[in-house]
Amino acid sequence: MATDVPVPTPASTPPGDGPLASTPLASTPLASTPPAAAPPGDPRRHPMTRTLVAVGIVIMLAGVLFGYDQGVISGALDGIKKDFNVSTFLLEVITSWVTLGAMGGALVAGALADRLGRRLTILLASVLFTAGALIEAFAPGSFVLVVGRLVVGFGVGVASVAAPLYAAEMAPARLRGRFVSLYQLAITIGIFVAYLVDYVLSHSSSWRAMLGVSAVPAILLIVAMWPLSDSPRWYVKAGRRQDAERALARIQGTDDVGAEVDTIQASIDDDARSAATWGTVFAVEWRRPLLIGVMLAVLQQLTGINAIIYYANQIFAAAGFTSPDSQSLATLWAVGAVNVVATFVAVAWVDRFGRKPLLFIGTTGMGLSLVVVGAMFLKLSKVTPGSTATGATTGEGLITLVALVVFIACFAFSLGPIVWTIINEIFPSHVRGKAVAVATAANWFAAWLVAQFFLTLVDLISTTGVFWVFAAFCAVTFWFVRRYVPETKGKSLEQIQTMWGDPAALAAAMETE
Ligand code: BGC
Repeated sequence: MATDVPVPTPASTPPGDGPLASTPLASTPLASTPPAAAPPGDPRRHPMTRTLVAVGIVIMLAGVLFGYDQGVISGALDGIKKDFNVSTFLLEVITSWVTLGAMGGALVAGALADRLGRRLTILLASVLFTAGALIEAFAPGSFVLVVGRLVVGFGVGVASVAAPLYAAEMAPARLRGRFVSLYQLAITIGIFVAYLVDYVLSHSSSWRAMLGVSAVPAILLIVAMWPLSDSPRWYVKAGRRQDAERALARIQGTDDVGAEVDTIQASIDDDARSAATWGTVFAVEWRRPLLIGVMLAVLQQLTGINAIIYYANQIFAAAGFTSPDSQSLATLWAVGAVNVVATFVAVAWVDRFGRKPLLFIGTTGMGLSLVVVGAMFLKLSKVTPGSTATGATTGEGLITLVALVVFIACFAFSLGPIVWTIINEIFPSHVRGKAVAVATAANWFAAWLVAQFFLTLVDLISTTGVFWVFAAFCAVTFWFVRRYVPETKGKSLEQIQTMWGDPAALAAAMETE
């Protein structure tokens, strides 16, 4: 596979030009006018051109698309269960196979983006996504519905790699971090919008409309992408220098781009000389960052976030929220809105306080709130596939609601965004593409495991048991971060790269907390 960048974040960033390593995401001004004579490479040279705004919209739409599909299923399950009379296992399949499709999509997206270009790949993903949403909406039975879920997932997976990659290659360095964090924010906004649609449609239990609506952001993405060109970096790679110059001129709002295209050419030549094979990715030298990337990706899921995102209505039903209305409202505000707001906090704080302190506070809060939720479920009824409440809301039900708010907030300012930040900054540039792909695939696999087996596990070890297992994984995450993850705040990508081979530097970074 000719993939140099099969990942959902800016893995192809030129060396030393790290998108996330030290970019204070919140402190980067979006709009500033460049002085007339700023030299190439000068950050003041890049105004917020129309093209850049359009690229921002593309990345937002791709994130919303991803998030919408994560969130929407929570409100749709009840109607699907009634219409198709499906088993718990099949409901879990309908929920989780988007994730499986996304894993497949992400794995081939790098090769597609290299061969077809970033623009065509994003268009292809949007078409796939629209088709999948329509298959879901008109599915005559559960088999076709599952096929629709897989197709949608595949589209989401491809878009989630190609769109941030495209944005990272289009944005000037000073805006790159912000563009990437926009993506995480857009995912949470997508989840919120999905919950809102679920709430509005909850009376008629129109699950077909809930799923079909997801064609809207996909079509908007086609409209937003259509007039844009491919990235200068891809044009240079494809030997189309003139197109590269034209694209860069549009991004920067100036024709004086020759030197910058030369720089891109040199960095691509460099990459080609040191291009990593899969063997290099798994070499002893990079074992530690690979272990950190994969473990954080997996632990982000095993601490339970998507069990709650996907099965929120069912959890609130078990907690005594009797009407579909009250379940959807709890899901909308306690999970959806809190997730968006707390993600803003991460964007503002991650570069000020560093990754590790936020991870420690976040996993502690997540773990404690899960212990509380588990304890409440000793009294409450079991979480089941249907969202018919078995009792009225009690004190335990309300405490569960509050504890879930704390859990979501703690996730959203810690494990949610920071795992992606770390995964994208710990690998040297020549292995970054493939290594981030491995970590991403591991993340989706773990997400699939949780979504697929959550209800089954509840049957096996009780709701309390499952929440306490998630809590135990929070403790494992805390221990793992303490034991293995160095602080990367304020370090350049080069410093991080050399740190892995320099025990003294690594020890110093381990002590920074
Ligand atoms: C995770 C997703 C999750 C989302 C929730 C992301 O960081 O990777 O699996 O659904 O956060 O906001």
